[in-house]
Amino acid sequence: MARLFDPASRPDPYPLFDALRDNGPFLAMNGAMVVVTDHERASAILRDPAVSSDRRRSLVPGTLTAPDNDAPLSFLTMDPPDHTRLRKLVSKAFTSRVAAELEPTIRAIVAELLADIADSDSFDVVSQFAYPLPVRIITQLLGVPVADHEWFEGCGRRVAAGLDPAVSVNAPDQLADIHAAQREFREYFLGLIADRRRTPTEDLLSKLVLIEEHGDQLTEHELITTCVLLLLAGHETTANLITGGVLALLRHPDQLAALRTDPALISGAVEEALRYDTPVQLATRIVRKPTVLGEVTAPTDAMVLMFLSAANRDPAVFDEPDRFDITRDARAHLSFAAGTHFCLGAGLARMEASIALSAFADRVVRPELDEDSLRYRPHLNLRGPERMVVGFESVRT
Ligand code: HEM
Repeated sequence: MARLFDPASRPDPYPLFDALRDNGPFLAMNGAMVVVTDHERASAILRDPAVSSDRRRSLVPGTLTAPDNDAPLSFLTMDPPDHTRLRKLVSKAFTSRVAAELEPTIRAIVAELLADIADSDSFDVVSQFAYPLPVRIITQLLGVPVADHEWFEGCGRRVAAGLDPAVSVNAPDQLADIHAAQREFREYFLGLIADRRRTPTEDLLSKLVLIEEHGDQLTEHELITTCVLLLLAGHETTANLITGGVLALLRHPDQLAALRTDPALISGAVEEALRYDTPVQLATRIVRKPTVLGEVTAPTDAMVLMFLSAANRDPAVFDEPDRFDITRDARAHLSFAAGTHFCLGAGLARMEASIALSAFADRVVRPELDEDSLRYRPHLNLRGPERMVVGFESVRT
């Protein structure tokens, strides 16, 4: 288990997952936590209405992934009925139509990013392609003014570090900065919300401000936490998916060739990229009664830590799970979780990744991965490269 927290394991954690899966669920943190790595149990726990997403009552001590004490919870870590009410209200502003309307914008941003590198012979996939796309989309969706984008992105990165349990273990000094960034973010959104109340526009924030159903409305705190949730959930995750997809295609040239020959394989390629290098590795739940998991019993209020990435390589569900195959049916993956907290942005993430990976396959001529450039972020949860240079001959217009 300690080796999983070690940043040295980021490039290839899969042999560790295999070993953990073979041994079944195990207790950690003096019995306050149970670690689950197999697909069947992870899937059942995610779908079990009796388990909780509210970590405040867990036996796990400290601030693992938690915001500072006065920060309100987002609905990601709430249970019904509060979760149901908030998710329903937010879903009204976050419909598939809203996501579909973004398609031309996504295409235009991808085209612009590729045009920007066209005069060069190499590019960093993370900072010049995979990261700017979801950041621009989510800031545009929320209605963050262009002038604030740079500050917003930097602050977002500091807040996102708080999603990682490895931070408390590897870099406790960083917690103060994460809490400061959370406060800066809240202040910022308070200003933006006041603005939209005075002058509503077409953006998601205005829609969230205006939402009302049977007298039910999002409070100011709920609005802020929802904005922060959408921002955090919506960018590093998608960036990791795009980078991981490009990496897998480059390391499996036969799959890249297959995609070029048959562009209709793109939706299968995105599902396989989600499975093969899972962008959000962890999901946690709290059991409210003693729960038998394999050979161990999780006590009341124990945290169940599920490695979605390990479940997605479970040979009981996926044949030859370590093989990257864009023609397989990978849809049983748990990359967007399952059950009541199933990712609200799955449609948007799939669309961004489809457009980005298709464009990469179609337009970047003779791409070549510089393996020596590949560096991973230390994050355990949002695992992904922080730098990945790819050389190329030209960019097709
Ligand atoms: C590849 C990209 C993405 C991945 C892998 C991903 C993954 C996940 C996962 C695993 C969860 C459930 C966490 C849990 O149950 O503990 C989740 C929830 C959520 N995601 Fe995503 N996500 C992605 C992109 C997005 C985007 C683009 C948005 C929105 C802009 C978004 C918004 C949300 C929201 C609002 C929730 C909370 C849902 C709830 O609690 O009911 N996600 N996501």
